[in-house]
Amino acid sequence: MPRISYVNGQYVRHSRAGVHIEDRGYQFADAVYEVIAVVGGRLIDEALHFDRLERSLSEIGIDMPFSRAHFVLKMRELLRLNRLRNGTLYLQVSRGVAKREHRIPEGLVPSVVMTVRPLAPPPAALVENGIAVVTVADIRWKRPDIKSVALLPNVLAKQEAVARGGFEAWLVDEAGVVTEGSSTNAWIVAGGKLVTHPADTAILNGVTRLALLEIAAEQGLAVEERPFSIDEARAADEAFLTSTTSFVLPVVKIDDAPVGDGRPGAFTRTLVERYGGHLWRGE
Ligand code: PDD
Repeated sequence: MPRISYVNGQYVRHSRAGVHIEDRGYQFADAVYEVIAVVGGRLIDEALHFDRLERSLSEIGIDMPFSRAHFVLKMRELLRLNRLRNGTLYLQVSRGVAKREHRIPEGLVPSVVMTVRPLAPPPAALVENGIAVVTVADIRWKRPDIKSVALLPNVLAKQEAVARGGFEAWLVDEAGVVTEGSSTNAWIVAGGKLVTHPADTAILNGVTRLALLEIAAEQGLAVEERPFSIDEARAADEAFLTSTTSFVLPVVKIDDAPVGDGRPGAFTRTLVERYGGHLWRGE
C-alpha cells in the first residue's frame, strides 16, 4: 500500500511528511485531533466527528480551516491515494507556526495534517475473552472534553496499564469516580442498566459512546449517564470500554479482581454484535 499523508494542502510520502519545528502543536500541544474509522471506504460517524472537531476548535479559539465538504474531499483523496478501504484516518489541526511565545500571535494559519493506516480491529481473543483494566489516578487538566493532543497523562496511564499487565487504564478522580479510560470511554452494567459518565467537561465525549447510546436506545436498553465510582465498578455485573479503534471490548478484570463472573456478560456481547452491525452495515 502506498503510504501518503496530507500536510497543509500537499499529499506527500509519509516518510517525508513533516511540519515545522515551531509549529505550536509541537511546542505547546496547541492542537486538536480526530481519529475516524474507515470501513468499506465509508468514514464512520463522519458528522459526529466533525461536530466534535468544530467544538474542540471553537473551545480553543481556532477557526475551522475549511468547510466540512472540503475536508471530506481531501479525506477521500487521501484514501484514494493510499487505496485504503478499511482503516483509520488521523486528522490534526494546530494553531500554526510562529516564533515561540505563549501569547497567541495574530493571523496564524492553522496547520492541517492527515494520515491513514490500515484498520487493525481488536483481536478476536480480546473480544471473546475480555480484557483487564488497571486503575490509575486521573491527573489530567480539567478540560479533557476538548480533544487536544496534550495526551502526556493519557500516555503515562496507558504505559502503566501495560506495565501492570492490563490493556487499558481506567482513570479515577479524587472523589473515586471512574471518568474514562486513557483512550476509551468506560461503561458498567449495574442493576440491568448501562451506566457511563455524563458528557461533561471531565471526559471526552466519544463518538463510539454516542453511537452506542443510540444503539442502546434502539434496543430498548436502560441507560444512566451518571458518574460511577470505582467501588461500584468493582461490584458491577459487567463492564466494557468503547473507542474508534477498540470498538466495544468487554472488561473482565479491574486491577486484580474479576468483574462479575470474569467472563464477558450478555449485555456486553449484544452491544459488541450491534456495534459490529453499525460498522459493517452494507458490507
Ligand atoms: N481516542 N476518551 C479518550 C481520552 C480518548 O482519547 C478517546 C479516543 C475516547 C473514545 O472516543 P471515540 O469513541 O470518539 O474514539 C475516549 C482515540 C481513538 C485516540 O486517541 O487514538
